[in-house]
Amino acid sequence: MKLACVVLAAGLGTRMKSSLPKVLHRLHGVPMLRYVLNALRTLHPQKIVIVAGKNIQDIKESLNDTAKIAFARQIEAKGTGDALLKAVPSLKGFKGAVLVVNGDTPLITGSTLKNFLSLHKRKRNEVSVLSFESRDPGSYGRIIRDNKGRAAFIVEQRDATETQKTIREVNSGVYAIESGALPLLKEIKPNKSKGEYYLTDIVGIARDKGLRLDAFCAGFEDEFMGVNTIEEFENAGRIMKRRIIKKFSDRGVHFIEKDSIFISSDTEIGADTNVYPNVHLEGKTSIGKRCTIYPNVRILDSIIEDGAVIKDSTLIEEAIVKRNASVGPFAHIRPGSVIGEKAKIGNFVEVKKSVIGPGTKASHLSYLGDALIGKDVNIGAGTITCNYDGHKKHITTIEDGVFVGSDTQFIAPVKIGKGAFVGAGSTITVDVPSHALALSRVKQRNIEGWALKPQLKGRSEKAKVKNRVKR
Ligand code: UD1
Ligand code: CA
Repeated sequence: MKLACVVLAAGLGTRMKSSLPKVLHRLHGVPMLRYVLNALRTLHPQKIVIVAGKNIQDIKESLNDTAKIAFARQIEAKGTGDALLKAVPSLKGFKGAVLVVNGDTPLITGSTLKNFLSLHKRKRNEVSVLSFESRDPGSYGRIIRDNKGRAAFIVEQRDATETQKTIREVNSGVYAIESGALPLLKEIKPNKSKGEYYLTDIVGIARDKGLRLDAFCAGFEDEFMGVNTIEEFENAGRIMKRRIIKKFSDRGVHFIEKDSIFISSDTEIGADTNVYPNVHLEGKTSIGKRCTIYPNVRILDSIIEDGAVIKDSTLIEEAIVKRNASVGPFAHIRPGSVIGEKAKIGNFVEVKKSVIGPGTKASHLSYLGDALIGKDVNIGAGTITCNYDGHKKHITTIEDGVFVGSDTQFIAPVKIGKGAFVGAGSTITVDVPSHALALSRVKQRNIEGWALKPQLKGRSEKAKVKNRVKR
């Protein structure tokens, strides 16, 4: 079947009370428009035309895939009928069905659209409308049928009589229009109450001309939810969340408590992974199989491989955590970091743009920035890479099997050779050869009886004690 799709996305979205174009509001991390495009792509159309307004550039930039997409511009939002008319030049030379959808219906599914198109084809209609039964028809356009039950026209709630308002069959904003019927758009007159050109009028016009047309009532109400207000946006978000959770539960992911978690639509999670409460998985994040993500963890645009454990209150951004590694509690893994297989990053450790080798451990209170750390390295508590000299960042290289004692500072650039030992409390300013011991701390001296010295005589016992405590 020859198919082109048009997405109407040039409305002002005034009811959202936001400067962001309505279709770019992110529902579970993804702009609403992208959900609509994903549904359309399952139909394999020859072309998709997006009608956009003055924010056309923002809309273009929000799309990750612009293959087969053309953009049409509607500078003034003069209504949905005018918007579709603006797409017609982009369809020049195309012959076949044109599927029109609103950009503000993110819950629509490809399978419902497919069923609708096959009904449209089977009936050899020139114009078809996808309608649905609404529990609360609210602001949707009502489908008016004649006494033979055939769709006659659509009336917007604003213009409907009290009797028409009670009709529960409403317009989803999805239409299939044969390319040959597109010139009908020019016959739409401005609506009397709003002055806008309503696409809905095409139904009445087609009927008056005796064209084959129908409204097909199909799908579930949730799918057609048009998002016009923040409240509707939140409702759509709740439905979307249920879908996401169900998708992963069906694949064997365990959620300990679903209400408090956030999962972006771009996230992937493998089977047998446990996700605890208040976990946020944002952006394009991928969690492997058999992982455990403990409470209060936020992971953004990162890859967590199979069997990894992310302990409580940890933040991971644009990083990779390899198989069976363990991160947290209270760790911060910053962009550009790779935590190696079976490595361990413990409490209050910050890692930035560093590669931590397999089996390496940094268990407590460290800052590892711009570091290349090999395998089976032990990073003692309180180790700090001093990577910044006030102008530039420098690299610390620590080779395989190095033992770094606690409270060590590496003044980068510096390199510690394979198997070397760094004594606790050292400030390392020059390279350490392989298998050497590096010690840079001041040698300890003990001064016997110092606390009993004459200079302390004459002071009260209390002052002496205080003095001793201070030292
Ligand atoms: C529209 C339909 C209504 C239907 C409902 C389904 C009309 C007149 N009404 O109402 O019958 O029940 O959708 O959700 O069509 N847009 C433009 N340019 C414009 C105006 C709108 O591109 O000048 C776009 C918007 O960005 C939006 C879509 O068209 O994505 C629908 O516009 P909106 O104002 O939301 O229409 P509704 O009042 O919801
Ligand atoms: Ca709408």
